[in-house]
Amino acid sequence: MFATMGALGLAPTAEAAAGERRYRAPRAGDFTLTGTAAAEVVVLGGGVAGLATAYELGKAGYRCTVVEARDRTGGRNLTIRGGDTLTDLLGHRQTARFAPGQYMNAGPARMAQWMLTMDYCRELGVPVEVFTNMNADAYIYNESEGMDRPMRYRTAKADMLGYVSELLAKATDSGALDQELTADDRGRLVEFLADYGALGEGFAYTGGSRRGFSVYPGAAGTPGVPYGDLPTASQIFATGVGRYFSFESEFDQAMPMFQPVGGMDAIPRALARAVGGDRIRTGCAVTEVTDKADGVTVTYTRGGRTHVLDADYCVAAMPPNLLAGVRHNLGSAVRSALGGFNPFSAGKIGLEYASRWWESDHRIYGGITETDLDVNQIWHPSHGYHGERGVLMGYYTLDTGADAYAELSPVEREQRAVAAGLRIYGDKYRTELASSFSVHWRQFPYQEAAWHTSLESPDAARYKPLTEPTGRVYFAGDWLSYMDAWQHGAFASARKAVTALHQRVLATRR
Ligand code: PHE
Repeated sequence: MFATMGALGLAPTAEAAAGERRYRAPRAGDFTLTGTAAAEVVVLGGGVAGLATAYELGKAGYRCTVVEARDRTGGRNLTIRGGDTLTDLLGHRQTARFAPGQYMNAGPARMAQWMLTMDYCRELGVPVEVFTNMNADAYIYNESEGMDRPMRYRTAKADMLGYVSELLAKATDSGALDQELTADDRGRLVEFLADYGALGEGFAYTGGSRRGFSVYPGAAGTPGVPYGDLPTASQIFATGVGRYFSFESEFDQAMPMFQPVGGMDAIPRALARAVGGDRIRTGCAVTEVTDKADGVTVTYTRGGRTHVLDADYCVAAMPPNLLAGVRHNLGSAVRSALGGFNPFSAGKIGLEYASRWWESDHRIYGGITETDLDVNQIWHPSHGYHGERGVLMGYYTLDTGADAYAELSPVEREQRAVAAGLRIYGDKYRTELASSFSVHWRQFPYQEAAWHTSLESPDAARYKPLTEPTGRVYFAGDWLSYMDAWQHGAFASARKAVTALHQRVLATRR
């Protein structure tokens, strides 16, 4: 009966799959039906968008060649393990000294359950586990607002929601909102607020167990010791802790979120395997793209030598800031469209510790501590719980905050990050430190951006020469999607390019 309902469009599965159905990967049968050989496509860039393009086209037997400037594929999807080395554009050279099994995701590190990235994990057999994006027992520490010690996220939230609810309940009850509310609305709103804010007699917020305990409740005789020092409403407002609470409601950041088991680079590795190593040329920097009536010519350099590659079509899946520096004959509209994307900075430092003291001493398993210090955020690892060691993300800085850290030597970055974390977590932040590794994407060769800002939506008229093919050249990348700075955006945009290219090939070869 359910199948019949589905056929009639009455079952929920039909609706849930609607978005997916708009995209149909090209199939081998498409070519055997038309009796023509598959087209040859050169893909510029071996990041997630480029690999996904080659993977999808490969399903139908297209002959793709991926040209990648670096010695590895994956683009910004980068997992650092012991032995990995990196030299940035400022000349800072690092070799990761992480112990076996330890790693940091220096680029993408989380996926929402609705994202296409999850579909590719399923399809490619990449196992996933929960990524804890929000933890009630992680800390908030706004030092510049006068906080002299960190507050648990749950405590800050209980107090903010408590006082806001108290004020709104009192205002509602005293008739201050009678213009906007019916008598029924008033009653329902007050009932909601009393529950939401844990209000007591006279709609007063007086704290309670939601704030947390300094001694946890246990057996009879041990009721626990709730956190003391209940701030006044004015005091909690002054801390600015409330600014972090909208994060967990964002469409792209809401829990539960996920990560591949063992490191985010499992995704590009699986894609590259499916594409085939013989179709990927690493160490090849693209210098010129020439669109012609009957094909595309791509010029690249490898070890100082110049090479030329001819294909029927090209998909340019490089960062727009670097594509802008490639010579081409695609015209001024393409040039000005590429100029509409500006590189944005982000940086991360992985701090490897010899013990997982944040779990044993602070009872924090995964999740993010928010600060107004220059480290911005500190991430607790969402894997390897109770293990011997672990890698904390000691900072996740953005924009000018990232640029300031980038200028420092790796040792100075570590010292500065540790000095900040010490103020929140205490001595072990220094004494247990084993090694560190930091990555700044603006200073990362062949990347030069963590992601891009754009003044207009990807559907703006000026971006048409990129969202639609120009001659025989197609474009793909997260920057051409509504989900820039997410792998989902790279996959979605690759699918769009592949769909358009394939429809054209089928139409012209029939
Ligand atoms: N996707 C990145 C992250 O989750 C960058 C980003 C941050 C994108 C916040 C949107 C919002 O960190």
